[in-house]
Amino acid sequence: MNGKVVIITGGSSGMGKYMAMEFAKQGAKVVITGRNMDKLESTKAEIELSPDQILTIPMDVREIDGVKRMVEATTEKFGTIDYLVNNAAGNFISPAEKLSVNGWKSVIDIVLNGTFYCSSEVGKYWIEKGIKGKIINIVATYAWNAGAGVIHSAAAKAGVLSMTRTLAVEWGRKYGITVNSIAPGPIERTGGAEKLWESEAAAKRTLNSVPLGRLGTPEEIAGLACYLFSEQAAYINGECITMDGGQWLNQFPF
Ligand code: HXC
Repeated sequence: MNGKVVIITGGSSGMGKYMAMEFAKQGAKVVITGRNMDKLESTKAEIELSPDQILTIPMDVREIDGVKRMVEATTEKFGTIDYLVNNAAGNFISPAEKLSVNGWKSVIDIVLNGTFYCSSEVGKYWIEKGIKGKIINIVATYAWNAGAGVIHSAAAKAGVLSMTRTLAVEWGRKYGITVNSIAPGPIERTGGAEKLWESEAAAKRTLNSVPLGRLGTPEEIAGLACYLFSEQAAYINGECITMDGGQWLNQFPF
């Protein structure tokens, strides 16, 4: 990733942060976005890059004006954009019948609309400049399976999976832009781990559901993202790679 410019939305914590760190290690210039300025600054300090190789952009993927500014600020500082990771997400557990309209809208807005806003703004820039960029969307295995307790997130991730495949066809054919996704399983040190498996019972259930008997690490997800951005993966387009220790296949644990 030497010299490549990569934007990671939600890059100040969890998986986004570890992806930014790994990309930086591989020689990329990284742009991390997030809603919380303090978190962005502390992550910036943690990522060992000189100030001319990292940019923090406080923004909310739900707001199109902020997304447009993200493209402008990145190209102003680094001259171009090579890769985009749509990682920003929002989630909480709620039975479907108790979920409020606002609760539904906020997750759909972050995950589904935010992914579209960022992809379309960066995509338009690439098309105008003739750049064959690459996008990775972070989804979840409940994009095609059931997401009991997280109907908003499951519906949004299913939409993002469809967006991955649709843009891969539209933009691959015309512009050589590739779009892929990663479906992580339970990953330690992430927002998902904090929110979805916070009780001891839930954590135990989760662990038991993974055939490999452990949580994944954000470093493993970051390694997969690096591979998807590499030349070795140039022919992968519209694909979703699951990295979950076999969890989603484990329907009848024995
Ligand atoms: C019920 C809740 C709730 C909860 C929020 N709401 N949290 N309802 N249970 N725990 C409702 C609120 O009451 C409100 O509805 C509506 O949702 C919006 O809430 P706000 O707090 O105003 O929204 P906002 O500030 O925009 O925050 C968005 C958020 C928040 C999604 C609710 O949690 C957030 O910002 N999360 C970002 C970080 C995150 O969640 N990361 C984890 C991603 S994990 P009312 O009706 O009261 O107005 C992930 C893992 C997937 O995606 C993969 C797993 C394998």
